[in-house]
Amino acid sequence: MPAIVVVGGHWGDEGKGKIVDLLAEKAKLVVRFSGGDNAGHTVINTYGEFRLHLIPSGIFYPHTTCIIGNGVAVNPAVLIGEMDELCQRGIDISRLFISDRAHLIMPYHVLLDGLEEASRGGKALGTTLKGVGPAFTDKTARLGIRVGDLLDREALLNRLRLILDHKNAILTKVYGAEPLSVDEVYNQYCQYGERLAPHIRETTAMVDEAWHKGELVLLEGAQGTLLDPDFGTYPYNTSSSPLAGGGCLGAGISPTKISHIIAVFKAYCTRVGSGPMPTELKEETGELIRQRAHEYGTTTGRPRRCGWFDAVAARYSTRINGFTGAAITRLDVLDILPRLKICVAYKLDNKTIDYFPSSINDLDRCQPIYEELPGWQSPITDIRQYDQLPLEARQYVARLEELASCPVNIISVGAKREQTIIKTPIL
Ligand code: GDP
Ligand code: IMO
Ligand code: MG
Repeated sequence: MPAIVVVGGHWGDEGKGKIVDLLAEKAKLVVRFSGGDNAGHTVINTYGEFRLHLIPSGIFYPHTTCIIGNGVAVNPAVLIGEMDELCQRGIDISRLFISDRAHLIMPYHVLLDGLEEASRGGKALGTTLKGVGPAFTDKTARLGIRVGDLLDREALLNRLRLILDHKNAILTKVYGAEPLSVDEVYNQYCQYGERLAPHIRETTAMVDEAWHKGELVLLEGAQGTLLDPDFGTYPYNTSSSPLAGGGCLGAGISPTKISHIIAVFKAYCTRVGSGPMPTELKEETGELIRQRAHEYGTTTGRPRRCGWFDAVAARYSTRINGFTGAAITRLDVLDILPRLKICVAYKLDNKTIDYFPSSINDLDRCQPIYEELPGWQSPITDIRQYDQLPLEARQYVARLEELASCPVNIISVGAKREQTIIKTPIL
């Protein structure tokens, strides 16, 4: 049986939560593989509306085991809050497991995220301030504390003493902030450890076992391809890889076991935080989309920047991820627009280019070249069959498929699970 990776195709918030909740119906395992609680995945199903930051979007099915993979940075306070909320709302979380290799977000990571952003002034990256960047920095710098460390109190205390010495020096000497107390942090994290202990596992064996039994394994990405540290708009990016390749690393599964790589693209583009976005609409159409689609961050509430579908970026995303299929979400948001634009190339210093530049200075100067298509100007949220979509909507989707070099399997016409059209089944 296959393993499917679900990846954000642009700058995040494409509707990965909705698509994973939908696909998880057939899955034995759903593994979140990257990011931390900078992510906000909205799921609306028969149990209600949920905004998940760490817990995989497959948690609503009794037959699905959910794993927070080694590639995720875990803030235990946020995780416990999310577990409690799900329990209160009647969702069984006994099948939730956390990789013992996942790194912990510590209180100094959250403080440093804020202090670093403040020190950047006008050049701030617009991070979510959740401490995710500093936690991944420490992972690479070999200064991290991992979820598994919560299970060995003596080792945790020793590690914390060593690291907090270093962090307190930065907090006090570089930023003039108050130091953190080893005892307080230690006691707090011991409590988290006690609560999370039944859920902490070596998880790669679980993934391997499910795959070998022929069960469907679903890997849930966070963020989006253009926020990747290597392939995104560096330095305006996140700190772990949202790519399909990141899925293998962050879930502990071999690339040879992945059979499908599914992009989630919005029918237009959004971005939250700073950095270049060639198709951003700073005028009334952008505002109209934002209001109509309520484009405000799931995690931070910040207004999302809205713009036309960037097919240059989408094609690049297809190439570096190797998308085998896609879900197009929020097609219904475009219902009212008389004409639609798709960015098919960029103008860079009087030259027409069809690639996504690696330098943000170049990308900043890129002017979108648009192709225009007619809108359909009728409501599509109640349509469930592809051939019942208005002709203009089918033409729009067909053009996205062609320009993004990726076949579309799923079209989402509303936020609820059932507001979905299966154009071509993935499996
Ligand atoms: P994620 O981070 O990729 O999971 O996406 P978010 O949850 O942050 O943002 C996607 C938003 O779009 C959420 O508010 C969803 O409820 C909503 N959504 C998803 N699919 C559709 C759709 O097809 N139509 C509409 N109108 N809303 C959708
Ligand atoms: P989901 O999974 C959209 C953005 C932030 C900022 C940059 C760096 O919901 O799609 P960070 O806190 O990661 O250091 O911030 O990345 N960002 C997201 N934007 N959706 C997300 O997640 C994001 N996670 C991080 O806004 O620009
Ligand atoms: Mg989101």
